[in-house]
Formats: sequence, structure tokens, C-alpha cells
Amino acid sequence: MCGIAGYIGKKKAAELLLKSIKNLEYRGYDSVGMVTSSEGKIHIRKGAGKVDEVNAKLDFPSMPGTVGIAHTRWATHGKPSDRNAHPHISYSGKIAIAHNGIIENYLELKESLQGIEFKSDTDSEVLAHLIEKNYQGNLLKAVQLSLKMVIGTYAICVINTNSEEIVVARNGSPLAIGIGKGENFVGSDVSAFVAHTKKVIYLNDFESAEIRTNSVSIFNNEGKKISREPKTIDWDIEKAQKGGYKHFMLKEIHEQPQVVRDSISIPVFFPMKERPSRIFIVACGTAGYAGLVGKYIIEKSARIPVEVAYASEFRYAEPIIGKDDLFIAISQSGETADTLAALRLAKQKGAHTLAIINVMDSTIARESDAVIYTRAGPEIGVASTKAFISQLVVLYKLAAELSGKKYDLTTIPQKIDAILSQEEKIKETAKKYFLAHNFLYIGRNLNFPIALEGALKLKEISYIHAEGYASGEMKHGPIALVSDEVPTVAIAPRDSTYSKIVSNMQEIKARNGKIIAVASEKDGEIAKHADDILPIPTTEEDLYPLLTVVPLQLLAYYIADLRECDIDKPRNLAKSVTVE
Ligand code: F6R
Repeated sequence: MCGIAGYIGKKKAAELLLKSIKNLEYRGYDSVGMVTSSEGKIHIRKGAGKVDEVNAKLDFPSMPGTVGIAHTRWATHGKPSDRNAHPHISYSGKIAIAHNGIIENYLELKESLQGIEFKSDTDSEVLAHLIEKNYQGNLLKAVQLSLKMVIGTYAICVINTNSEEIVVARNGSPLAIGIGKGENFVGSDVSAFVAHTKKVIYLNDFESAEIRTNSVSIFNNEGKKISREPKTIDWDIEKAQKGGYKHFMLKEIHEQPQVVRDSISIPVFFPMKERPSRIFIVACGTAGYAGLVGKYIIEKSARIPVEVAYASEFRYAEPIIGKDDLFIAISQSGETADTLAALRLAKQKGAHTLAIINVMDSTIARESDAVIYTRAGPEIGVASTKAFISQLVVLYKLAAELSGKKYDLTTIPQKIDAILSQEEKIKETAKKYFLAHNFLYIGRNLNFPIALEGALKLKEISYIHAEGYASGEMKHGPIALVSDEVPTVAIAPRDSTYSKIVSNMQEIKARNGKIIAVASEKDGEIAKHADDILPIPTTEEDLYPLLTVVPLQLLAYYIADLRECDIDKPRNLAKSVTVE
């Protein structure tokens, strides 16, 4: 995820664009850059760091011109550095591009551009050269033609030395055009320009647009001009940064279909040639629960023993781990102190190490033998949601790689969309239970880790005491807690342990416990055993965690919102736990 912005009009582009990318900085902030066009020349300044830091060095507002594009980066290909910062310039210096997305066939395209010297390690730079190669006096046509050769996702913003137009296009990454009077704007979202205009045209996938000072023309996939009326938005700047959502957490929950789509194409690999004797998955909190799902799927499919440990325990447990073993660290931030210490210990003991990390070039990523980056984009809400789902996708892919088993992940995004469309129902359920002081979460098999994750989400953002249990454990102690004041969330999709969890639900009902069931939408029986139902689509058994977690995130969110909690910054917590 990155932020892109563009301006064409009569004002000084650089001054305006600096404010735009500051507003987009939540989308990524490891490097920043700007390009303006004036008097037949492209002017470029860019560098690694946050917008304010880089601006202090490079003084963006002093750049000349009334046309420009800017970018704030969240690295995917190529570490954060001055040379990898966007925009990128074509080989003759005439065309500049800013890109958000991933060009999957960039290596192939790079080969077709032999003789051109590449100045960065990014996938995006290839677009600048490709567009120049296809340029025959019409920038729009050159962009449209070039994008036909591209496989991947993009929102791109392109200018050239003539200062007459900005050309934009999108597929899979968001892009909005702000319509002004004698000036027009571009942004990854409206926060880039909402201070100047509230009239906006959203581009759809495979559309492109030519934006001039006094006109905006939209083109479909075949390059035919189409008409689209601007919408008027009623957002203020704060709302706009959250994409219209009340909190980043809610926005991030809603980003999950796209995150799964992006994560499906993540290449996975191992730092060892031989099959590991054992796998250790070590992490903290939510990342650890992703690891627990990983244990079930890897052991089931690849028949390799997997141990999952809290990083804080692993390091003091004198673990028996060695050169035949694979150690997997999972971390959104890549900076969690305990996970880092566990990694160092595993390395010291000779294990092969692999990290599954969201933040590029973070310490754990750098210190592991191999790293697989999740594609969740920056996660701002302290409660992890979209990073978790991306970690799960990587673990399914690793299990598939080890075992040869095929998981059909491609239907998951639309199924998550279907769950998100039930948001009102989940909100109504939250209204019934938000005053409870204690909650139980139960699940079996692969959904046991989701019970733990559901309980963690609720406690951390709503401050309600909640515990997750393997539902078969209820009779061994926790059922003593059941009363009409302690609701139980039962994760009960139609899988092979369905009848078992239904029995556990009946035992709870028999003791006056209220039950909220996460259940398959086609389950005609479940209403007999539950007070409230959070429906999910059906899927193959092993993939249920990718679906069952979503209503639990929303339930926790709405309960916390009804309790007026500070959802994005819950008390006592920090996004990155860099101390033991
Ligand atoms: C819970 C949450 C935490 C983190 C944990 C590990 O919502 O976010 O439990 O999962 O602190 O953090 P990372 O993944 O950055 O190592």
C-alpha cells in the first residue's frame, strides 16, 4: 500500500502536493518523493523517511511548476531507500510515474527492456520505461498500451515534460480524481484533496483518465471515452484519512477481501532444501494465533510435527531445536522484542529460520535466513485484523508447498465480502450484549485458535474480560462460569466437528447460558441451539478460520464502539512491542 497524489492547475503544485501526501501518510511512510513539470523539464526530489523528515532535507515546496505528482511509499519490492522511493523517471528523463500496487510480471517486462539502465530495485520502475518506449506523442495512449502488458495491481499517476496533463489508471488499487475549478486533483483517496474540492470521480478497475487543468476524460478498458458524473462527498479531513470509516480498525477489517486477493500471489519458499524434521512457529498475541492455525494445517497436510510457542516462553524454555528444524517467526511489525530474541536463540542453536513479516526491512526480517512479506499494507489500528488474515494466507501457502495439497483461496475474498455485508446484523447483536462483564469463546479443531483470537480482540478493545477455550475443555472447568450473565460465542461452522460443538452448546444452554453462534448461513438447525447467529458462507473445512474470524472482529469492534472505547488506541497497549 502506498499513497499517490497529483495536481494540475494554476497554483504551485509542490506546496499543495506536500499537504496531500502528508494526509496520505497513513498508507505508508518509509519514503517519499515528488515530481513536477515546468518549462519542458521534469524536476524530481525523493528520499527515504517520513514526509516531514524528507521535506526538511529536500524542501519540496521550492520545486517549480503547476503540475506534479507525489508518492508516499510502503515498500513491497526493494527496501526503503532514496533510490527506491517513487516517483520513477523513464530512461530519457521525460516521463515520471508514481505507482501503488504490485507488478507481478516485472522481471519479464524488464527483460523486454534490455539495454535500459534501471536505477531502483522496485517493480514499479519498469512502468516508466515501458510507457516511454510506447510513447508516440500521446501520453494517454502510451499508458493504455503499456498497461495491457502488465500483470498485477496498480494505481498509477503519470506526467511528462509537456506539463499539459496527468494520466492515471487503476486495477485493484484505489484512485480518486478531485474536480476543481480551473484545477484538478488525484489521490489514492479523497484525503489527498478534500481540503480543495468535495467533487470526486472514482476510477474503476481497468479504467484510465486524462486530467487537464480544465477537463477530465475517463476511458474504459478498450480505450473508449465514457462519461461519469462526479459525486459530492461530505467528508472532513479526519474522516477522509480513515476512508470514511469511524476508526482505522473498521477500515482495516473492510480491507480484508483485498488483502486476501493481494496475499494469494505472495511467493513462498523455505530457507532449507531438505524437509524439516520439525517446525517451530513462534510469535506473540494475534500472530501466535495465526501460528496455531498454521500448526493444524501443516500437520494435517504435510504430516510434519509443528510446535507453536509464545515467543516470551520459548526463549526461557531451553527449547530442543537444531539444524534439522525450521523455525518460523510471525510478526506484523517485525520488531517485537520477544519474537526477535526467540529468533536469535533459534539461530544460535543452528535451526533454519524463516520470518513472516508485514513491515519491510524490519529487524526480524533482516535477521532471518529468509523472509516472506505479508501484503496487508500498513496496519494502524492497534488491534491486528488484516495482518492476521494475510499471515493465515501465507501459512496456507506454506502448507500447500510442503504437502502438495491445493487450497482454493480464490473464493475467500468474495466470501469475506458476504460476511461484511452482514455488518448491520452483527451491530444489532453487539447491542444486545455490550454491557456483559465476561464472555466465553469456544471452538474446536482449526477454529479453536479463532476462539482465542476472538476473545483477544474483544478484551483488548472493549476491556471486557473474555477467554477462549477448546470447546471440549468446557466440562473440565470453564463451564462453572456459565450463567445467564456470561454470553458464549460458539464457532460452529458445518465441519467435521459440528455435532461435537453443538453438544457443547446444548450443555451451555442447559445452564441458562446465552449463545452467539458463528455458523454456516445454510445451517437450518443452528437456530435451535443459539440465541443469536452470525452467519458465514460455507467453504472447504480447512479454510474456515479465514471466514470465522471476520464476524468476531466486527462483534468486538461494535461492542467496543457501544462502550465508547478508544478503539484504535486501546488503553495500555502499543502497536509495536519492542520491549520484553
Ligand atoms: C492483538 C495484537 C497483538 C500482536 C502482538 C504481536 O490485536 O495486535 O497481540 O499480534 O503484539 O505483534 P507483532 O505481530 O507485531 O509481532
